[in-house]
Amino acid sequence: MEIVGVGEQGLFRATYAVIQAATRREFPSAIPLDEAWRLVESPPAEYRFSCLAAVDDDEVVGGAWLTWSLAENRQLLVAELGVEAGRRRQGVGSALLDAVKAAGLADGRNALLCETFSPYGDGPGAGAAFAEARGFTQQYAALHQVLDFPVAGLAEKAAEIAPHHRDYSLATWPDGCPEEYVEQYCGLLSLIDDEVPLDDLEIEAKRWTPERLRSVEARRRTAGHLTSTTVAIAPDGILAGYTELTGKPQQPNRLDQHDTLVRPEHRGHRLGLALKIANLQALHARTAGPATIHTTNAAANAPMIAVNTQLGFRPVEHQHLWVATLD
Ligand SMILES: CC(C)(COP(=O)(O)OP(=O)(O)OC[C@H]1O[C@@H](n2cnc3c(N)ncnc32)[C@H](O)[C@@H]1OP(=O)(O)O)[C@@H](O)C(=O)NCCC(=O)NCCS
Repeated sequence: MEIVGVGEQGLFRATYAVIQAATRREFPSAIPLDEAWRLVESPPAEYRFSCLAAVDDDEVVGGAWLTWSLAENRQLLVAELGVEAGRRRQGVGSALLDAVKAAGLADGRNALLCETFSPYGDGPGAGAAFAEARGFTQQYAALHQVLDFPVAGLAEKAAEIAPHHRDYSLATWPDGCPEEYVEQYCGLLSLIDDEVPLDDLEIEAKRWTPERLRSVEARRRTAGHLTSTTVAIAPDGILAGYTELTGKPQQPNRLDQHDTLVRPEHRGHRLGLALKIANLQALHARTAGPATIHTTNAAANAPMIAVNTQLGFRPVEHQHLWVATLD
C-alpha cells in the first residue's frame, strides 16, 4: 500500500467517494463531491484544499481531505481521514496520518485538527479511539441538532417574544448584504469566533472585510446556494445581531443554520430567538421544502442550545475536535 498525493480528477473522485463512505453518518456533513473538486481546482482566496489517497493494488482504500487556511490560522492543518470499513485496523489510517503530518510540517504548520462524530447518547466511536491512540487531545465538544422544515408555530412564538425586543427592528436579505450594512455586518462576522465558547481550542478569529464578504457571496451565487440572513437593528442604527442560514442545490433536503450572534451589550431581549424565527419565516416564503435544518453548537453553549430547543430542534449527534502537535 502507498500514500499518494491526488492531482487528477479520476483519482480524486475515487478517493473522495471512499472518504465520504467512511465518514457516512445519519446526517453527513461532508462537502458534496462536485463542490469539493471545484474547491481543489479554484479555491477561494482564504483556503487551499488537497487530498491524499491510500492505494493498494490499484484500489483506493482510504483517503485524507485537507483544508489549508491561508488567511488566519496559518499554523493549523485540518484533515478528514477515512478508511474503507473492510480495511480498518490494518494501519491504513496511521499511514495516512503520517503522510498528512509530513505534508503539514513541510508547509510550516505546527498543529493538526481532526473531527469525530458519534450518535447522540452513544459513547465515542472508532475515530475517537484512533485519535486517542495516535496522540491527539480532545479540545472541543459540540452538539448537532436538527429541525424539520417548514417549521410549525413560528408566528405564535414571534408574537410571544415581540414585546421583549420592541426597540429593535429586524431586516432580512436573501442574497447579498445591502451596501448600507456592509461595514457593520463585517464587524459582526468578525466578532463571532471571539464570542462563541471554544473550550480548549485555540484558533485565530476570522477577520472579515467587504472584499471577503463580497467574494463569499459571489461564490455562493455562482454555485446556486440559497442564503437567508436576518439582522437586528438597534434604535441608534447599530447592527445588534445576525443569523444566517444556507442551502445547496445538490442537497435539496438539507438546510444549514450557521452562526447566530447578538452583541454582548444587546443581550437579554430575546433577539437570538427573534432573529432565527424571522429568518425562518422569510425562508418559508421562498422555499417549498420539506428539508431538515442542521445546526452544530458548542456543548457548553447553553443559551444557543436552549434557543434551538425552543424552536423544536432535537439532538442527533456529538462532535469532537481533536488537535495534535506537529513536530
Ligand atoms: C479512524 C479511522 C480513519 C482509523 O483507520 P484505521 O486504518 O482503522 O486505523 P489504524 O489501523 O491505523 O489504527 C491505529 C490505531 O488506532 C486505534 N484504533 C483504530 N480504530 C479503533 C477502534 N475501532 N477501536 C479501538 N481502537 C481503534 C488502535 O489503537 C489502532 O492500533 P491497533 O489496530 O494496532 O490496535 C477509521 O476507523 C475510519 O475511517 N473511521 C471513520 C472516519 C473517522 O472517524 N475519521 C476521523 C479520524 S480522526
